[in-house]
Amino acid sequence: MRILLLTHSFNSLTQRLFAELREDGHEISVEFDIADSVAEEAVALFQPDVVVAPFLKRAVPESIWTRHLVLIVHPGIVGDRGPSALDWAILEGEREWGVTVLQAEAEMDAGPVWATSTFPMRAATKASLYRNEVTTAALAAVREALSRIPDFRAGRWAPRPLAAIAGARGRLRPLMGRADRAIDWQRDDTATVLAKIRAADGFPGVADSLFGHACHLFDAHPAPVEPGAAPGEPLAHRDGAVLRATVDGAVWIGHVRRADSAHPFKLPATLAFAKEAARLPERAAALAREPGEWAELAYRESGDGAVGFLAFDFYNGAMATPQCERLAAAIRHAASRPTRVLVLEGGRDFWSNGIHLNVIEAAGSPADESWANINAMDDVCLALLTLTDRLTVAALRGNAGAGGCFLALAADEVWARDGIVLNPHYKNMGNLYGSEYWSYLLPRRVGDAAARAIMQDRLPLLARRARDEGLVDDCFGEGPAEFEVQVAARAARLAADPALPERIAAKARRRAEDEAAKPLAAYREEELACMRRNFYGFDPSYHVARYHFVVKSAQSWTPRHLARHRDLGWRVPAPDAPVEA
Ligand code: COA
Repeated sequence: MRILLLTHSFNSLTQRLFAELREDGHEISVEFDIADSVAEEAVALFQPDVVVAPFLKRAVPESIWTRHLVLIVHPGIVGDRGPSALDWAILEGEREWGVTVLQAEAEMDAGPVWATSTFPMRAATKASLYRNEVTTAALAAVREALSRIPDFRAGRWAPRPLAAIAGARGRLRPLMGRADRAIDWQRDDTATVLAKIRAADGFPGVADSLFGHACHLFDAHPAPVEPGAAPGEPLAHRDGAVLRATVDGAVWIGHVRRADSAHPFKLPATLAFAKEAARLPERAAALAREPGEWAELAYRESGDGAVGFLAFDFYNGAMATPQCERLAAAIRHAASRPTRVLVLEGGRDFWSNGIHLNVIEAAGSPADESWANINAMDDVCLALLTLTDRLTVAALRGNAGAGGCFLALAADEVWARDGIVLNPHYKNMGNLYGSEYWSYLLPRRVGDAAARAIMQDRLPLLARRARDEGLVDDCFGEGPAEFEVQVAARAARLAADPALPERIAAKARRRAEDEAAKPLAAYREEELACMRRNFYGFDPSYHVARYHFVVKSAQSWTPRHLARHRDLGWRVPAPDAPVEA
């Protein structure tokens, strides 16, 4: 089928649908929902069999849904309506939630139901549920809905009107407002504070105040009780987060957005409140510690001590200079342990998204901070590349983008969870050249021609496709929990493999040969020479793109690599022409 994705932005769910439906053999094009006339034009050009709307902030124009089949993906159970579906589900402690695919009609989210898929809820942020459970359920429901189109067209099947669905639990709920989200520090216990912040994370955050300044709170984690502390009081800092007491415990607040600052976007709390946080004691956490105590980095070993696991759960996968420095130190610690295999787990939602664009944007000199950050990223890569006495595995539990993808390639093996999406390119960020030793790592994995193609392509890549292209070594595990179990089992097998010592020796030999042919320092220097031009040169594209990314500027047009119907020379294929993969 020819499917037009009409969407507010090319967000994670839209990327996944785009990549999966293309794999299914459909022809996909994308148009951002900017204005009725633009959407109408896209439909006229592409003549889709169906318009799928994965992420909209307003109703589909009547001129479109009256003439074309339009399927809306709503992140709620059957009958649920309104713009804060997941927010309410989290705040009200729903145990099971779902995604419903409805046909667009005049009233938003009230059209007849084509398909639905449910999932058990998890204690996590709205964004995390959206990227994982909602995305998986949406894909299943969209596939089911698409499979019904032939029967629908032939009059053998009809979607069910909401009113005809008996026992639907969902209902119309209003936009969740500031008052619904507000934290009462004198009354709300830790669980309530966490639920409120998680229901608003990534957007819009919970309006509150910290150190006497109004701000929005994000990225909250539970902490043990702080004897004698007044609820709401800031007590300590760790990994960029500020610890605040609650009535029955405490929470770490990792990120805040200050409206009263020159940088009104999300930043690590200790950066947004640098002066105030500097007066708090640091409460560092041990790298190897009991599970349950929050810190960005965590190291553990398998029972027999053969495998080390290093997790680096940086908010949104963004890695600022100090985070890279802490990660490089953690890799050095892991290297001092007598393990045979080191698994790099990254974060649960994102393995890594490269340098921290928000922190860079807030710096006195964004160019200088970009330079410091990319060098710190390169140091992390180098720490992995020079770890030649054991095998390293990058286990991608979550999506990875830009420099984060290439950091993964610095490991000997790259395993990806089935269903994650990779964006192995830098170009979307103002034609950034990129570093992370990609010019060494990528061609040696996929060859020169494929490396060039990957770097030119700006599209998301499914883990499965990445495996077929040789970018990653393996792809398995339905969900994060299953992936983790399989990673542990595979890593144990690797560590127990009698061939491992020879494999490690071969790896060390190859590194030495590669170094003799062209030192890593030379690759780095060449990449950084181009990056220097991106940061300090005449062309401001990177700074402009970063600014718009960080402040989330509204889209004013759909990039041509997505809006294929706007390609010069694009024609609606003849009905019996083969569909392009
Ligand atoms: N620095 C700071 N924040 C980042 C980030 C980065 N490198 N990468 C992602 N984020 C943030 C986004 O701003 C967004 O913030 P939110 O919580 O306020 O919504 C959140 O992470 C999720 O990102 P989003 O773009 O919504 O996720 P996605 O799954 O739709 O897209 C990417 C993933 C990787 C394609 C996209 O985030 C991206 O292009 N990131 C920038 C990558 C990059 O250019 N890095 C620098 C070069 S190494």
